[in-house]
Amino acid sequence: MPASDRAALVAAARAAREHAVATFSGFKVGAALETVDGRIISGCNVENATYGLTVCAERVAMFKALSEGHRQFVAVAVVADTEAPTPPCGACRQILWEFGGDLEVVLASLSEDKGVHQLKDLLPLPFDARLL
Ligand code: THU
Repeated sequence: MPASDRAALVAAARAAREHAVATFSGFKVGAALETVDGRIISGCNVENATYGLTVCAERVAMFKALSEGHRQFVAVAVVADTEAPTPPCGACRQILWEFGGDLEVVLASLSEDKGVHQLKDLLPLPFDARLL
């Protein structure tokens, strides 16, 4: 994806991060998905008192997008306020793969890009509906 599109996607993830409900970890994450037609749908992590029902920013963004009717995606950006990049967790890789395919995964902090990966490289030998 062009650098300008990437910057817009990262900006949306940074903005979404501001809404993070990170009551217990204090670790705020923002994510933003880009659809094939250029729409951006964002999400933040949402924690709750059971801890285990926490939903990561990436899955919030994907479920929001699906619930709004979007079905084809080209990229996802993930932003956290850390020196090291924050890649999607295993559960999010699975959901992103099943609904987004081989997305471009853009990792960034509040001030800089931290790397670009293809989802197929982050989730080798995936299980998905083709195997059912
Ligand atoms: N988290 C995300 O939202 N996305 C990631 O890629 C990594 C982790 C959240 C889950 C939890 O609310 C907090 O960060 C600490 O793990």
